[in-house]
Amino acid sequence: MSSYDFPSYNPRDLDRDFPYFAYPKIVGGLSLDGNREFVHNRSQLQILRPENEILGEGKSFNLNIGFENKFDRITVQGEYLNNMLRWILANRHRYDETKSQIFGADFLTFRGTFRLIMNSPYERNEGWILRIQKWKDTIFIAEEKTPEKLNKVPTQQEERFMYWGYKFEDLMTTTAKKACQNAAPAANEDEPVNENTEFNCMFVSKIGNFRVQYGAEMDGYMDPNAAADESIPLQPDKFVELKTSNAIRHPGQERTLRKFKFVKWWAQCFLVGTENVIVGWKDKDGVVRNVQKISVKECSRSALEWKGNVCFNFLLDVLTFLKKTIVEDSLTKVYRLTWYPDRGFTMEIEACTEPFLHEWFYSQFK
Ligand code: A3P
Ligand code: MG
Repeated sequence: MSSYDFPSYNPRDLDRDFPYFAYPKIVGGLSLDGNREFVHNRSQLQILRPENEILGEGKSFNLNIGFENKFDRITVQGEYLNNMLRWILANRHRYDETKSQIFGADFLTFRGTFRLIMNSPYERNEGWILRIQKWKDTIFIAEEKTPEKLNKVPTQQEERFMYWGYKFEDLMTTTAKKACQNAAPAANEDEPVNENTEFNCMFVSKIGNFRVQYGAEMDGYMDPNAAADESIPLQPDKFVELKTSNAIRHPGQERTLRKFKFVKWWAQCFLVGTENVIVGWKDKDGVVRNVQKISVKECSRSALEWKGNVCFNFLLDVLTFLKKTIVEDSLTKVYRLTWYPDRGFTMEIEACTEPFLHEWFYSQFK
């Protein structure tokens, strides 16, 4: 019988003032190459192509291009926080070893995990599983795929839908390498996308009284100079989030967008200070004929049946719960927090599993 005092995820209980959230600051970046290998640089930073070029009248993009020849997606088993841990090791010289916490953080995770928690009060279908370890007074949170996600093999059609999202990002952006080679900005249009590459920023912020550090995959950057020159600091408001969505043909579709999609877009962007989403409105065949910039503020202004303060208060309540419940440092104890919309929370201590804070990481610290 579990005796944990879990927080409420009922929106009515969470409709309090918006908690304190410090404007997120970028403290570094990392890339994953086409083989999903960690690279400690900005090589995969995607530069947004000029707006007049992508928003132009009469432009259309076929997102199917290259699908048949697409690169195999590499699934790394047990990736957990590994790439963030590699980034921490690469930046260890910036870490004050006299302080107990890793980079002074109460919590260390990916932005996607915070987003998942934030959206729970309005989530009706999918649950989540978090693996949690506390070491050096820092709580590390890693997402574990739920059995439903793990057992789901995407159909060819679902593979295609996923490819459309990546292809849209690819069409809207160019990398430093291509820009330096003086390639035409649209040189990548005809080529298949490699879905394995990523650029992540490392952020620090404060939620309530908790100092948080999190990695996040970022889409398009508005300053081309920052790609070639690593000494130029990256600014959150110069990133845009790229999304595809079904072109709206009737009011029901607009309601769905405002009720279900905007809450996810808002949470994802808000956590990293992204101010704009560039949406490619696609038809059922994957052709985009209209590209539109929607501000993140507009997403929350036109919210239908969700509230940002409810989302953020839930995140704060979950962090408060973890801080209170997980008190001792351990390199062997892994907590497993599970939440499903119909069943709520369960928490247990994992038995006989491999902790996700590996020896190659912790042995590098005193
Ligand atoms: P769209 O969201 O435009 O469909 P992100 O927007 O988070 O940067 O993700 C980029 C793309 O990755 C998505 O584009 C989608 O194609 C794919 N993707 C991300 N999360 C997914 C999920 N849970 N299921 C299916 N595809 C996903
Ligand atoms: Mg995107």
